[in-house]
This record gives sequence, C-alpha cells and structure tokens, in this order.
Amino acid sequence: MLFFKRISSGTRIAWCSCEPKVATVIDTNPTLEQIVTANPGAAEVFVRHGLDFCYRGQRSLDEACKEAGIDVRTVAAELSAVRSDSPDERGWSDRPLAEIVDHIIERYHDTLRRDLPLLIALARKVEETHADRPTRPVGLAEQLERIHAAVENHLTKEEGILFPLIRAGRGDTTYVPINLMTREHEDHGESLRRMRALAHDFVAPEDACASWRRLYRSLARLEAEFWRHIHLENYVLFPRALQAAGFISQDSTGTTIRSTR
Ligand SMILES: [Fe+2]
Ligand SMILES: [Fe+2]
Repeated sequence: MLFFKRISSGTRIAWCSCEPKVATVIDTNPTLEQIVTANPGAAEVFVRHGLDFCYRGQRSLDEACKEAGIDVRTVAAELSAVRSDSPDERGWSDRPLAEIVDHIIERYHDTLRRDLPLLIALARKVEETHADRPTRPVGLAEQLERIHAAVENHLTKEEGILFPLIRAGRGDTTYVPINLMTREHEDHGESLRRMRALAHDFVAPEDACASWRRLYRSLARLEAEFWRHIHLENYVLFPRALQAAGFISQDSTGTTIRSTR
C-alpha cells in the first residue's frame, strides 16, 4: 500500500531570506515527513529523539512528541537551529526528477553497496572475538547479510527499471513498480528494526573494544541514512513521478487525491 495520503499542507516552516537557510519559526502542526521534505537536516534531530519520520511520518510534530513523551518545545528549538547550507541538505521537493535520482544513487545506493559488506565483516569479527561475552550481538552478521541481499536486489530493480522510467518521463508506467518498491521499503524497515534490536540499540558495553564501538556507530549512521533514503523516495520522488503522470493530484487544501485510472 502506498503511504502518502498527504504530500503537503498549507502550513509551512518559515525561513529567513538570507543564506544559509535557517528555520526561524517552527510550526508544530506539519507532519514529520513534511518537515524533513522542507529541510532534510531535520532528519538528524528526529533520529536523535527516536521520532520515526519515515514509516510513521504522517503524524504532526506535536502528536509524535506527545506519543514519545518528549517536550515538543525542545525538539522545535533543535529544529530551528538546523542549518541547511550544503547542496545535499537542501530540500528536494522542487528539483528536477532526474537530479533527485542521481542524488539517491550517488549518496545512498553507492554508499550502501560500499558499506554493507564491510559492516558484515566487522560484525562477524566482533561476534567471533567476543564469543564468550553474553552481551555480544548474536546473529547480527547474519541479519546484515539478509539486509545486504534484499537491498542489493531492491537497488538493482530501482536502477534497472524504475529510475530509467522516471528519467525518461514515463510516469504513466511507474505505478506498479512504485507500489512494489514502497512495499519493499516496509520490509526493509522491519529488517532494520531487527538489526537495531540485535545490536542492543547500538549501545556498546562500557568495556567494549574499539571495533565493537565502531560497529555500533556505523550501524547507527547506516540506519539514519537509510531512513533519509526511504523518505526521499516515498515522500518526494515517487509522489512527484505519479503526480506528473496524473495518478495523484492535490485539492486546494493540499490533500492528495488518488486517481482511479
Ligand atoms: Fe533507493
Ligand atoms: Fe527504494
């Protein structure tokens, strides 16, 4: 099931006009996904507070903070300090689709292909070296191997089928592959949650060695980057490709209407 009922609303984050862009007013009504779409740097704040902007991105900031028992003013203050001065940190919602595709491949796909095999080897080394420690991450290397296989398969389909269609402006043929990729993203989310559980929420024991700590730090970074990757596809690239083909449209309130075609 596709999960972008709302692409945007009338409520916006206010920016000061000077560069670099700095959010000066944070409205707590926009959803988490809208906030990250407007300012990708906000993702780090949400990750830090454990606020899921990707799979549960349709909640308002206010609602998500209440649910997590976090003071919304604390999060809002951190969001207002997020700077977006690098090209990667700019919002992607109004960029050409081909540019978004290039960015996804370069920043996320290539990095996953490079890092996952290294992380599998590191997890195996930590598991084997500390085989006598009950706190070691049992089964983590195996879980990373499963993630690697599933992700490699997913990236191959995106780069070989879906992205060329989007680049070629063939939005009319993207509905089925987008639906499939979106479902696979949900499976990846489940796999990442399992990875986090096996890695004890990425908290190493006090006396853990440098490799063990490096493994958890790298996995935390991989997870955060994975969320941003999926957010960019689910909430920006895919809706825009479908919108260009007339599969979805928005009414005057910004609510997305699914076409019956
Ligand atoms: Fe992707
Ligand atoms: Fe994807």
